Parts: sequence; C-alpha cells; structure tokens
Amino acid sequence: MLGLKLPTDPRWVNLAEKSIEEILIDHAYCEQKAASTCISLIIQFPEKEKMVETLMPIVTEEWGHFRMVLKELKKRGYSLGRKRIDKYVVELMKLERKGDKLERQLMDKLLISALIEARSCERFRLLSESISDLELRDFYRELMISEAGHYRTFLDLAKEYMPEDVVKVRWQEMLDAEAEIIRNLEIRGDRMH
Ligand SMILES: [Fe+2]
Ligand SMILES: [Fe+2]
Repeated sequence: MLGLKLPTDPRWVNLAEKSIEEILIDHAYCEQKAASTCISLIIQFPEKEKMVETLMPIVTEEWGHFRMVLKELKKRGYSLGRKRIDKYVVELMKLERKGDKLERQLMDKLLISALIEARSCERFRLLSESISDLELRDFYRELMISEAGHYRTFLDLAKEYMPEDVVKVRWQEMLDAEAEIIRNLEIRGDRMH
C-alpha cells in the first residue's frame, strides 16, 4: 500500500531494539521536522488554500507526536539530546528541482514529504511488531496509522496542483530514487531512517 520499492533490511529493527534511547531521540526530531516542514510549506505557498487548510491541523498533530515521543523518553529516564544529522532526509532533499516552475517545486516538496511519511510508517510498523517493550509496541502501532494517513494526504495534495499523470510519473521516479538512497545508507540502529 505504501508503494516503497525496497523493504527495510530486517537487521535494522534488531539494532534499533538495542538503542531505544537513541531511536527515541532521533524519532522526536523526525516529528519536529515533520511539523516544521508543514509550517514552511504554508509560509512558502500561502496562496494554495487547500494545502494550507490541510496542513494546519497536521502541524498540530506532528507537534503532538513530538510531545508524545518526549514523554516516552522521560518515562524511561532519558532526555532529548541534540539533533542528529539525518542523512536520509539530506539525500531526499536533493530530489527537489529548483527553478522558476513553482508548481513543479511544490509537487516535489509534497512528494518528498509523502516518501518520508511512507518510510516512517514502515519503520514504525517494524518497531510495533518486533520490539520487546510492549508499551512501545502500542505506541508505534498508533503512530504508524497516523503516518499512513499523512502519506496519502501529501500524495493527494500533489495531485491538487499538478495533473495526475505528471504526479504519477514523478512519484515513480521518486520511489526509485528513495530505494536507491536506502540501499546506499548505512544500517544504523540509532537512526529512525
Ligand atoms: Fe508524526
Ligand atoms: Fe506524519
């Protein structure tokens, strides 16, 4: 359903299980970035009313996720460390085509967000199925459902501003590129991606 072309290496979840503190910290910043990205989109494209309307509640939701992750950290006696470099997102951002075609740039931005939501959803599912901390399993199951909804929302928004066939072609290119990025990234148990 998520359309991702390369499933996460099963070793990732075993490594993640051993570094829950690091995973939670990295995850907290994923939620912060999700909220910040929605805010940036609203600021950069205020004339796209449908998008602004759709993203406003998602900002609140993502920030709510950030707070939820912080609560899980605190519960375990950990605290929010500094933000880590997110190589996955850095690589994905390179897929965005700059230039004067604003609609095309917006489509790329929305599709990159859809990719991040889809991959996060997949990773949350893996955590919800395999980690030994039962409370965290439930936590990740709940978040997985929410990110699956976001993935669809971003794809649908892209289709609001570009013809469906253009979005479809670009989406397939993006999925291929994302798989290539995942293939080349080191598998790290201390990173969500
Ligand atoms: Fe989220
Ligand atoms: Fe999300």
